[in-house]
Amino acid sequence: MSIIELKNIQRSYVNGSQSLHVLKDINLQIASGEMVAIIGPSGSGKSTLLNILGCLDAADSGDYFIDGKNTASLSHDALAKVRREHIGFIFQRYHLMPDLTALSNVEIPAIYANLPGPSRRERAAQLLERLGLRGREHHKPGELSGGQQQRVSIARALMNGAEIILADEPTGALDSHSGEEVLRILHDLNREGHTVIIVTHDMKVAQHAERIIEIQDGEIFADSGRQQNAVRARYIPAPRKSQSKLRGFVDRLRESMSMALNAMNTHRLRTALTMTGIIFGIAAVVTVVALGQGAREKTLESISGLGTNVVSVYAGGDFAEDDAHPVLTLVMADADVIARQQFVDKVSPELLSTQPIRYLSNLRKHRYRVSAKIILRFRASNSLKAATSVTSVTHSKRSSLIPIRATSSLPLMRTPSAR
Ligand SMILES: Nc1ncnc2c1ncn2[C@@H]1O[C@H](COP(=O)(O)OP(=O)(O)OP(=O)(O)O)[C@@H](O)[C@H]1O
Ligand SMILES: [Mg+2]
Repeated sequence: MSIIELKNIQRSYVNGSQSLHVLKDINLQIASGEMVAIIGPSGSGKSTLLNILGCLDAADSGDYFIDGKNTASLSHDALAKVRREHIGFIFQRYHLMPDLTALSNVEIPAIYANLPGPSRRERAAQLLERLGLRGREHHKPGELSGGQQQRVSIARALMNGAEIILADEPTGALDSHSGEEVLRILHDLNREGHTVIIVTHDMKVAQHAERIIEIQDGEIFADSGRQQNAVRARYIPAPRKSQSKLRGFVDRLRESMSMALNAMNTHRLRTALTMTGIIFGIAAVVTVVALGQGAREKTLESISGLGTNVVSVYAGGDFAEDDAHPVLTLVMADADVIARQQFVDKVSPELLSTQPIRYLSNLRKHRYRVSAKIILRFRASNSLKAATSVTSVTHSKRSSLIPIRATSSLPLMRTPSAR
């Protein structure tokens, strides 16, 4: 039975107004345990096809079956599970995490597959040993040769079993000796039952496979075909000991924290500069907010100073209202009631009154009658000191009347002492 079956697969990329038809009606069947090479010139669509095979990308139209199941019917999570547990990727540039050791890099897929920590580390160490990397487990990718890095990436691909191994130019960045070694490992894996699909533009590499598929301009140009009577081992999945979802979540959180701290520790200068940037950013935001708040309060204070928040209350309903005459004046009790209202901040009663003032002059001994308007203001906020001031005086000798000050309430009569 075919482990992989493609039916009329089409894939295009749209760049602006241009559409590039990369895969044109691809039909292909690969049996379990085959070792296949897909060869073709640069830009012919090999990587695009491999990405669809690895469920990293989806076709625009057509059907892709893995082990008889149509991938189009699988949910996002189910596809991720297929990718995680059945497919292993090997890339030309290895794609290893530079801040993690070889062992930690190999462990990563198992963290997402919920494998408990001790079993994970044990299996990763076994795989590295098998691929000839004993003693290099704690080296980071930068401390390993290209061939060694590619072997770490093969170990990572095998960590969760990898029934299907997809390799995109696995020897492309390696010297011929390391390349041969990687191909030998892929052969060994194929003999153990893994289905191996290699993408390459190098015929020498392709010849290591039992079947060569040539692709040109997005179409299968030639296919050497399946070797019907080849003896193939059956794939035996690696034993899997899953842990509870909660433990798995805690494990992933711990691993992520440890990776983040590792990365910060490795790039101290970058971390320090980033922290400084963040501190400056936060300080700038706080300053701008504080300045805005201060400016707002100042503006509101200035507006209040103009009296926009002052409401004058008069007796009666409206100016010239007919029914207002029974209410002659407001009294202090009215001020108390108003002061108790929620929306009132302060109340300042104001009394306007007209009183006759008698002025006796020392010099000319004449008697004048003047009319003065005296306003008595109570300031609730300060010391409740009453102050009066003359706002209009109908006499030419006004200068001798002003200022008249009193600390008592009306009526006020002021008489010069000498008479
Ligand atoms: N994400 C994308 N957006 C737009 N065009 C793309 C995208 N990916 C690939 N292409 C185009 O699709 C075509 C096929 O690309 P692909 O990577 O599959 O080629 P390839 O056969 O793997 O080439 P190479 O041997 O150089 O790796 C190329 O012309 C490429 O420019
Ligand atoms: Mg490619």
